[in-house]
Amino acid sequence: VKKLLVDVDCGVDDAQAIMMALAAPDVQVLGITCVSGNTTVDNVCRNSLRVLKVCGRLEIPVFRGASKPILGNALSAGHFHGQDGLGDAPDSHAPSSEMIQKEGAVAAMIRIAREHAGEVSLVATGPLTNLALAVRLDPTFPELLKSLYIMGATLTVRSPSFLHPFLCTSVVLNARGNTTVCAEFNFAADPEAAYVVLNEFLCPTYIATWEFTCRSKLPWEFCHRWLAQDTEKARFMKQIFRHSMEVCCGGHFDNEMVGGQGFVSCDSYAMAAAIDDAFVTACKRVAVTVELTGTHTRGMMVLDNLELLKKKHKAFVLEEADLERFKALMMAALK
Ligand code: BDR
Ligand code: CA
Repeated sequence: VKKLLVDVDCGVDDAQAIMMALAAPDVQVLGITCVSGNTTVDNVCRNSLRVLKVCGRLEIPVFRGASKPILGNALSAGHFHGQDGLGDAPDSHAPSSEMIQKEGAVAAMIRIAREHAGEVSLVATGPLTNLALAVRLDPTFPELLKSLYIMGATLTVRSPSFLHPFLCTSVVLNARGNTTVCAEFNFAADPEAAYVVLNEFLCPTYIATWEFTCRSKLPWEFCHRWLAQDTEKARFMKQIFRHSMEVCCGGHFDNEMVGGQGFVSCDSYAMAAAIDDAFVTACKRVAVTVELTGTHTRGMMVLDNLELLKKKHKAFVLEEADLERFKALMMAALK
């Protein structure tokens, strides 16, 4: 059995990732820890409970975590995920906030990791604030984990090979951000936390970057079949997903051009990597860190291709994956 702790900023794709984990055989979700990101941490707790309810899994504990990043103010992604994080679809039967655990998320993460030392994989699909706080409270926290799966970061693109061979491995052209020019949302929302995690979590770390997820799009035709399943979970997903689908392609789902050749469930790729060992077919092992200053580069992940930083720990940056396996996991999530 794979034991998971899931740290979310429960927007629509976090919900999809949680549902994927709950549907997977031989996976045990020990708890959901919440962090501010796509929406406020209170909404994130509520959304996580809503997801657990539709899956009939309200016995899984939900913990409230950080309401702001380490520095500065919280970002939000309300324009994409809806102001409440789940598409602003009305839900008068949402579980009461009394179901949120009294124990805080960071304390719970540390406790659960100690109780199952060496067995827990942590899947982080929001800003990394709770993880950074956990290692500050307990410096041994990362070594208690079996592995860490992150959805986040941009991939710096190196200069093309027609340039000088030495420059070829050292010159950065650009990273393709989705929130700032060079930063992906989860890293842009808390660059300091991302820095702490990539530099201090020495457990095996797998990163599903924004570019990787964009390269792994699923066709809209699959999306329609996925949502058309005759189940309570599929009806729930249809409601919460409507808002972001409209933003993606203005409702023209049949027009592949408008929808950008498919849809991306970013957080589900990190989850798929955690629950299915055969999902990732290629990754790059490289030392990574995070840019903390820079007019356009704050929050950008930096790949130390030449090993100039002399870091012993290397992360696994996802490069290729088996999308047929991914489709099967997605389908099962709404069954
Ligand atoms: C990431 O940011 C959030 O909007 C999504 O939930 C995902 O975790 C994509 O950049
Ligand atoms: Ca997320």
